[in-house]
Amino acid sequence: ISPGCDAYLGSGKVMDKCGVCGGDNTTCRLVSGVFQHSLNKIGYHKIVEIPAGATKINVTEMVKSRNYLALRSRSGRSIINGNWVIDRPGKYEAGGTMFTYRRPNEIRSTTGESFLAEGPTNEILDIFMIFQQPNPGVHYEYLLPSQRATDQQQPNPRPEGSFQCLTFSMFRYEFFSVTGTTSISSNNFFYRFLHSGRMYPPHFSDIQVPVVQPPRRDKEYMWKMSGTTECSASCGKGFRYSTYNCVHRVNQVQVSNTLCDSSSRPSPEEEACNLQPCPAFWDIGEWSECSKTCGLGMQNRQVLCRQVYANHTLNVHSSRCRHLEKPETTSTCQLKICSEWQIRSEWTACSVPCGLGQRSRKVLCVSNVGDFVPDEECNMNLRPSDVENCDMGACAKSWFYTEWGNRCSAECGMGVRSRGVLCLINHISTLPLEGCDSERPPDSQVCNNGPCENRMEWFTGPWSQCSAECGPGSQQRSVVCLVKSEEGFTVMPPYECSSLDRPLSQQSCNLKACRAKWYHTDWSACSQTCEGGFRVREVRCLSDTMMSSEECDEQMRPKAKENCNPRPCTPHIDEKCKDNYLNCNVVVQARLCVYDYYKTTCCASCSRMASRR
Ligand SMILES: *[C@@H]1O[C@H](CO)[C@@H](O)[C@H](O)[C@H]1NC(C)=O
Ligand SMILES: *[C@@H]1O[C@H](CO)[C@@H](O)[C@H](O)[C@H]1NC(C)=O
Ligand SMILES: *[C@@H]1O[C@H](CO)[C@@H](O)[C@H](O)[C@H]1NC(C)=O
Repeated sequence: ISPGCDAYLGSGKVMDKCGVCGGDNTTCRLVSGVFQHSLNKIGYHKIVEIPAGATKINVTEMVKSRNYLALRSRSGRSIINGNWVIDRPGKYEAGGTMFTYRRPNEIRSTTGESFLAEGPTNEILDIFMIFQQPNPGVHYEYLLPSQRATDQQQPNPRPEGSFQCLTFSMFRYEFFSVTGTTSISSNNFFYRFLHSGRMYPPHFSDIQVPVVQPPRRDKEYMWKMSGTTECSASCGKGFRYSTYNCVHRVNQVQVSNTLCDSSSRPSPEEEACNLQPCPAFWDIGEWSECSKTCGLGMQNRQVLCRQVYANHTLNVHSSRCRHLEKPETTSTCQLKICSEWQIRSEWTACSVPCGLGQRSRKVLCVSNVGDFVPDEECNMNLRPSDVENCDMGACAKSWFYTEWGNRCSAECGMGVRSRGVLCLINHISTLPLEGCDSERPPDSQVCNNGPCENRMEWFTGPWSQCSAECGPGSQQRSVVCLVKSEEGFTVMPPYECSSLDRPLSQQSCNLKACRAKWYHTDWSACSQTCEGGFRVREVRCLSDTMMSSEECDEQMRPKAKENCNPRPCTPHIDEKCKDNYLNCNVVVQARLCVYDYYKTTCCASCSRMASRR
């Protein structure tokens, strides 16, 4: 039974695309489109949202692919192919309507998956694609009541009066119940019936009922057998039933059935028909479970050639079905994708002993055969975290110190010993801080190696400078014998320390090698005592080993000759040494100056002659 126009049996009216009998296509509008986005992430991608009130929903993949369609209600409930589980094709109730999910399994088929539903829906439904390979495009369409139609529906009250539920000739509905009014157009009600009885499974259909005032019934009209229904089966034995029309008692003209008393309507007579055997057909069994729980597997189904004889369906030889193409008996299937996240280690210890740190664990994408595969093969949205913060509580600043040193600063008597003291944040910081909250622990301590005994000891001073700037030299130091007592040090005569090894007081030294150097002799005597003479000396360049050398600096060469006694030869006037006679030159010529008398009386002339000589 198709809903709508059956109530007008014989009226010649047809249903328009909006499901209104005799309607003009204006009470609804078509929404359609193609989802063609190129996707690159494996997983669920939303294709379209189907609003409440939609009818004639058709979502069809344009070409067969490894992708799957999925359906979810707005409240988040998965209806088909949710949570990475691929459901079998079949019927699924959602949003107040029944969705038919088709997945053509025949290997040769190129048709894609589809969702079909008559509607109307009573909530928003979301259609998704589980993306696994390039999207070949998904066509979707549905009808929505147009604004005018919905406006009309609102105010119409349920009409008074009674109406007759009509049963139709072909099938008898032994039980049915009205489940509610679905819509009202200008002069029709649409009632939703739940049929049960011979029709199995029970199903709903909407029946349009004209609003009719209860007729006045009298004996003017009567039921008259008008013929039979069509045979319920075209072969293999069916049934047909007699039908009755209401006619005018007198002129036998057919009138509306409502004019006759329905309770007096004769029950239809049953008659078997079309007893000839039906042609053989392929009876297609259910698909078996997929051979793999994830990844590509195989599934099988039984395809038997069968034929209906009278009341029985018998298995027959497959040659009887040769006029029909044999449906596939095996198909590939995939319940879900196999790669999954696995946590492969416990959390590590926190990276810090105090304060905020991090801890990590190993999370890997594992394929169905147990291989580690690149992360992209798993659903990144479901990836368990592999790093998280950990809080080990506040860090405290503390004083850190070393053990006390073993050495006392004094060999005997009072001294001090020390240790290192630092303020650090516990374990973390390696940099010393300004200071900690508590008082700084002492870093030195008094120590005492016991009383000092009177002990003799050699003490040495520092070495003096080397005696030679270069080449071999020597240096000295002072060495004294001291006795140390409580009062301090006292110098003692060296023999007090004679029992002890005396440290050296002299040692050779050699600051650096000299290389060649200028040597010279003393100056000779001046060649004259006055009025410019000269003097000479010998100059040699000698190596470290005192061999003659060329390596001395010529610029530094000492002079080998120089002038001397430049003063004039005039003897200085001596008041006591003067000539007492005018003719002292004669005394000089007569060589009388050797005599003391003349040397004194002619002092000037005699001494001049002596110096000239
Ligand atoms: C309604 O639409 C269908 C096709 O969608 C068409 O065949 C029919 O003629 C239309 N009816 C009217 C009244 O326009
Ligand atoms: C659904 O839509 C597809 C694509 O437009 C079309 O091929 C198919 O016949 C439609 N199915 C129904 C039941 O209308
Ligand atoms: C059909 O078979 C059933 C049992 O399978 C039997 O009860 C019934 O009488 C048969 N009807 C006819 C018309 O042969």
